[in-house]
Amino acid sequence: MHNNLAAASHTDATLSDRVADLLARMNLVEKIGQMCQVNVGEGHIPANIAEDIRAGWVGSVLNEVDPARVAELQRIAKTESRLGIPLMIGRDVIHGFSTVMPIPFAQAASWNPQLVEAGARVAATEAAERGINWTFAPMVDVARDPRWGRIAESFGEDPTLCAVLGAASVRGYQGAALNEPYAIASCAKHFAGYGAAESGRDYATTNVPENELRNVHLKPFKAAIDAGVTTIMTSFSDIDGIPASANHFLLRKVLREEWNFPGFVVSDWDSIRQLAIHGLTANDRESGREALQAGVDMEMHGDAYRGHLESLLESDEIDSDHIDDAVARILRIKFELGLFDEEPGSAPPRTTDHVDPLQVAEQAALESVVLLKNTNDALPLDTERLTSIAIIGPLADAPRDQLGTWIFDGDPSLSQTPLASLQATLGESVRIDFVRTLETSRSQATTDFGDAWHAVSRADVTLLFLGEEAILSGEAHSRADIGLPGAQVELIHHLRATGKPLIGVVMAGRPLVLTPVIDDLSALLFAGHLGTMTGPALTRILCGETSPMGKLPATLPRMVGQIPIYHSQKNTGKPPHPDGVVMIDEIDPQADQLSTGMTAYHLDAGYTPLFPFGYGLSYAAFRYGNLLLSAESITTAESLTISVDLSNNGDYGAHEIAQLYIRDLVGSTTRPVRELKQFQRIYLEPGETRQLTFTLDAKDLEFYGRSNTLTVEPGEFHVWVGGDSNAELGSSFFVTA
Ligand code: GLC
Repeated sequence: MHNNLAAASHTDATLSDRVADLLARMNLVEKIGQMCQVNVGEGHIPANIAEDIRAGWVGSVLNEVDPARVAELQRIAKTESRLGIPLMIGRDVIHGFSTVMPIPFAQAASWNPQLVEAGARVAATEAAERGINWTFAPMVDVARDPRWGRIAESFGEDPTLCAVLGAASVRGYQGAALNEPYAIASCAKHFAGYGAAESGRDYATTNVPENELRNVHLKPFKAAIDAGVTTIMTSFSDIDGIPASANHFLLRKVLREEWNFPGFVVSDWDSIRQLAIHGLTANDRESGREALQAGVDMEMHGDAYRGHLESLLESDEIDSDHIDDAVARILRIKFELGLFDEEPGSAPPRTTDHVDPLQVAEQAALESVVLLKNTNDALPLDTERLTSIAIIGPLADAPRDQLGTWIFDGDPSLSQTPLASLQATLGESVRIDFVRTLETSRSQATTDFGDAWHAVSRADVTLLFLGEEAILSGEAHSRADIGLPGAQVELIHHLRATGKPLIGVVMAGRPLVLTPVIDDLSALLFAGHLGTMTGPALTRILCGETSPMGKLPATLPRMVGQIPIYHSQKNTGKPPHPDGVVMIDEIDPQADQLSTGMTAYHLDAGYTPLFPFGYGLSYAAFRYGNLLLSAESITTAESLTISVDLSNNGDYGAHEIAQLYIRDLVGSTTRPVRELKQFQRIYLEPGETRQLTFTLDAKDLEFYGRSNTLTVEPGEFHVWVGGDSNAELGSSFFVTA
């Protein structure tokens, strides 16, 4: 039966009228069907799914990416169902489709929202060409525990950086208007507090006090909503005893009453039915009831809604308005996407103004690399004088692993590896010895250490490609020990005996504990997983064509036992002081209990990280000076201008990311010792000095105080500007009522 009733609503009526008109003509099955997302992706269209679509039982599918099958699914929905309501076609397009950008955690090291937006635009274009119209990204969970595998998908530990880059992703995926070609709906996830999983174990319990939830974890979601994100996904987690998929506080009070979010909420995969596994409900029926009443509009892969909403309605356990409201929100997004107006399979041909995906991927990789150490200017390589290089380690030639986690549709055949790029760039003039040495990053076999030793011994310089394979991070892939896996530390210690300079390139989905090897390396680059164009980007940096410009989006601990350790921690009542720390090996055997200073530090690790948030060196030599404030005091209605001179005293032109931090010294709740508020990317030629200005106003100083409402509280503030979260150049100002 082909009755394109929905077409009848193609009038010039307002969006709301069109939604109301269509909703009024839907029966209960069709309404519940819109709230059901079904997994396809089996290489064919199962007959039962085709039949369910015809019957109106399916509002969305996920994981089908074949253009022909996507078009067929859409055709069935639009021409063979009673009302012809099109499908949302969902897919995890997290950091690229075929062309893979750096993992979000690596992109975060660029601190470049325009770059992140461009990467999302490329991803959306490649996905939309296949008929995909919805991605489950950006993930804007604040991640402060590097044991957590999904830190790889995050933009790191800071709420401001996560907010800025999450909003940029939304703009990239959704474009200027949702109904434009290549625009796809985006999804801020996982709402909320998912990154606070106990011990960094994915899916584990999260207990986040409301004040921290509001000041830290909710901030990036609000920024995504302000940027126009169309959907929100609930997290798997139990948060403060109520799993997110049944959490009225999150889904109704915050999302709807406080934020007036107009889009729709989708559960995570089966997270409604998991309410019973959490022990919040006794069965699917109760789970469906709890999720609907809390405000989950669409169920991803599960049938609590399909199986029970009708009977829950009949028994008056749920309110029909909850169903109508959910369906209206879903239909509205479908209208906004223009799905009712498109012909199935109508992805328009690419116009010439499309950017080159590989160029975007290479620039993203280039800007995501962080220089952590560079003793005696070991980098960049002196390619004029070099005669031989040893390249050691499996990640030098790992087309699949360099793409990182969450790349369902990434094409490893497109990968340009570091080994191939270095050979192409230097192979004519330099002897390159590649010794894989370890089959994978987890290998314990030392059988090839001898070959590695010989290659290093006869080389001018050695490049060690260290870190983690892609599979060691991402969903459900958390680690309790975040050191270099396998025999990598042993290998480095073995090679240091050659006395030759060792340059480390770490490729990983998380911050790693590099303390055991940091002193053995002359130079160290942290590269995350950089995606398709890993090779060209690293080669350009190693050979000095471009200076590294990345800054850490998360703290690198000295030891895993320090976690959580991050820049915006509270002062505590007994903060440690550099002079007041007695380390474990310094303690006198006869020392008495009070002899170690009695402050907040670990006897065996101290209280500082190996590398702080925001840290990253350059081939240039940046210096900050002459910090000036426009006033000593401002009212909450005024703004403050901070100016600083940034100089490049080095021999390289390079980008710097100048960061502004504040500290609110006294609050109705305790405040972090440093809060990132603004940052700027600047390029300076050698010898150049430029004055940078920042403007702070009440919006920058507000926080959720004791009443858990947004407030700016009068008092003294400190402000610093510098190249990382330990910036020392600072001043103070007062805020008056
Ligand atoms: C997963 C993830 C979520 C993803 C969804 C669909 O379990 O938690 O981020 O978007 O399922 O693949």
